[in-house]
This record gives sequence, structure tokens and C-alpha cells, in this order.
Amino acid sequence: MIPAMTTALPVLRPDLHPPKPPRAPATARRPGHLLDSHGRRIQDARLSLTDRCNFRCIYCMEPGDRFLPKMQLLDLEEYIRLVDILMELGIRTLRLTGGEPTLYPQLDELIQTIGQRGLDDLAMTTNGSLLDHDRLVQWRHHGLRRLTFSLDTLREDRMRTITRSRTSVQRVLESIEQARRAGFPRPKVNAVIIRGINDDEVPDFAQLARDRDLDVRFIEFMPLDSNRAWNRDHVVNADEMLEAIRNRFTLRPDMSTGPHSTSMNWHFSDGAPGRIGMIAPVSRPFCGACNRLRITAEGRIRPCLFSHEEWDIRSMLRDGSDDREIAASIVDMAWTKQAGHGIDRADFVQPERTMSAIGG
Ligand code: 5AD
Ligand code: SF4
Repeated sequence: MIPAMTTALPVLRPDLHPPKPPRAPATARRPGHLLDSHGRRIQDARLSLTDRCNFRCIYCMEPGDRFLPKMQLLDLEEYIRLVDILMELGIRTLRLTGGEPTLYPQLDELIQTIGQRGLDDLAMTTNGSLLDHDRLVQWRHHGLRRLTFSLDTLREDRMRTITRSRTSVQRVLESIEQARRAGFPRPKVNAVIIRGINDDEVPDFAQLARDRDLDVRFIEFMPLDSNRAWNRDHVVNADEMLEAIRNRFTLRPDMSTGPHSTSMNWHFSDGAPGRIGMIAPVSRPFCGACNRLRITAEGRIRPCLFSHEEWDIRSMLRDGSDDREIAASIVDMAWTKQAGHGIDRADFVQPERTMSAIGG
């Protein structure tokens, strides 16, 4: 079991004079490009719509964690402006995250607007507890292409312990079916696997993928928990999970995975529907192929999940800076993206923010 809560994270306070990134060299300034200093081109953005959540998953938040005041959060116009600027910089795919993005009051308007902007992909990650059919149909119609559901157990008693909420597994499974009926293609399920918590359910999740034609992604537990209880012993690595699945099913690799995918994927050899994937940031870091940039709900740009530096863009959205100036700053920010997370290094330090405050 993950040890009980120790100390809550400090509330993230707004800096009066947030640090600015150093100016990127002229080679970083190619029109329509967002580049980092390690030769990666950034084309994917994760936009966090809120740090709030109606769950308190044990690997993410603690019950006592506080949320940011509303004034500090980006508003609809700011999100839309930022998306337009990011697209000018070559961002092609966007994922809406949180916290729980369905708690963002203007989600419908946001999807309606950015869904028409011509992105190659617009996706959202949700805990699936607050969806309804009409909104799903509307989102799909307005250009939301894909939905990912976070679901870490198939057992009702564990669901309560893991999420510290009253939402049932059944409710989330129903939302997944609603999403399918609303026209979303094969929904994805993210399952964070933690030793001693839900590692015995790995083959059951593979069975779920087959039974319901789902894309189930097993995620290694990362040091992004508010409780700071993460340690290597809690991590069930992808090889172990695969072995547990292979004890029940035969798999064949899915060759269609793109170069920037964070997961290694498999089909079932017997032709059954569904797919499984492993997201193995701890045992097999994929940082070299990472093309992502994260924007927090209060308008900080985080070039990496594990960044210790983050850059404030909200003040520029509010101080009369024009789009070109903001774009030039984002180029500087992206250039600072670190080569990798360094979880394996002796001097690794967990970032101050949890996943809920970063945007997954
Ligand atoms: N380790 C791994 N995955 C995590 N997520 C949240 N916190 C962690 C963590 N510490 C996952 C959620 C969600 C996605 C956005 O990130 O389960 O599916
Ligand atoms: Fe909420 Fe997601 Fe964090 Fe769970 S992992 S508490 S659903 S933000």
C-alpha cells in the first residue's frame, strides 16, 4: 500500500516576477516551427483546462490539496488565442487535460471553437465520471476526435480506494460505451499500475480490451504524486505487465504505431478485437521522440512533465503583448525543453507539481 499522506504539497503561488527563458538562438526561429535545443520538433500540445478534479487518485492528489483561485486560471478567450498562436508555430495535435477537463465550465464553447481550427487531432483525457450522451454527441460533432478514459481498476471496492470518490467502475464503463455510441472511435483506457494496489488486474484489463474492443494502455507509475510516496518498488515495469498478459493471451506487435507514440502496442494473435499498449516512461524512457509541450491551467508552459523550470505565458496574454511577441516567447520556452526526465539519475528530483496540476 502507498504510505498514508505525509505532508501536502505547498500551494503553487503566483510569482510577481516570473522568470523568463533565455533568448533562443536564431536557428530556433523557423516560421511555423517550434524546436528545442536537442533537435526535436514540437508539434503536440497538452492543454490543461483546470487543476480541479472530483477524484483524488492516490497516485496523483491528496485529499487536502488546494486548488488555484479562478482569477489565476486562463479564460476561454485566452485558451483560444493560445491555441491559434500554437498552431501558427506548427502545433498539429492537441489534447485537453486537467485535473478533470469536464469540470472546466466553458468546455463546450472551447471544443466548438478549436474543433474548427483544422488541427490534425483533438483529444481529451477524462475520468469518465461526469459525461452524458448529449454532450458527447455535441463534442464529437464539433471536432473532438478521440477520448481517453482513466480507469485503474475493475473492482468496485478498489475504485473507491484508488480514486477516493464514489464513482463506480460501472459508471465509467457506461461512459465508455456512451462515447462509442456518440461516434468516438475505439476509446482508449489508461490504467496506471501500482505494485500492491492493482497489479493483479493486468490480465483482466487485457480481457476488457478484448471484450469491449478497447485500446487499453498500461502506464508505469511515475513520480508525480502529491504524496511523494513514489519509489521504484511501487513501479510494475512494462516487461512484467506484458508477461502477466502473455500468461493468458498471445500477442503480436502492432506495427502501425507512429514515431512519436509514447506507447508500444500489441494486438491479440487470435484476431480478437481490442489492443493493448505499454507506456513505460520509467523502464523505457521515450524522451528522445517526445514532441510535446504542456500548458498548465494558469498559463505556464512546461516543456517537460518533469521540468523544474516553467514559463509564464498568462502575463503576456494579459499585458497587451501581441501574438507575434507571444509566439517569440514560446519559441524561447520550447528551446529550454530538457533532454529527458532523468528518473534513473541519482540526482533526480520530483517536480513540485502533481499530474493534476500539470496536465497529463
Ligand atoms: N503516474 C502515472 N500516470 C499518472 N497519471 C496521473 N498521475 C500519474 C502518475 N503518478 C495518469 C492518469 C491519466 C493520465 C493523464 O495520467 O491516470 O490517465
Ligand atoms: Fe483526478 Fe486524474 Fe488526478 Fe485522478 S489522476 S485525481 S482523475 S486528475
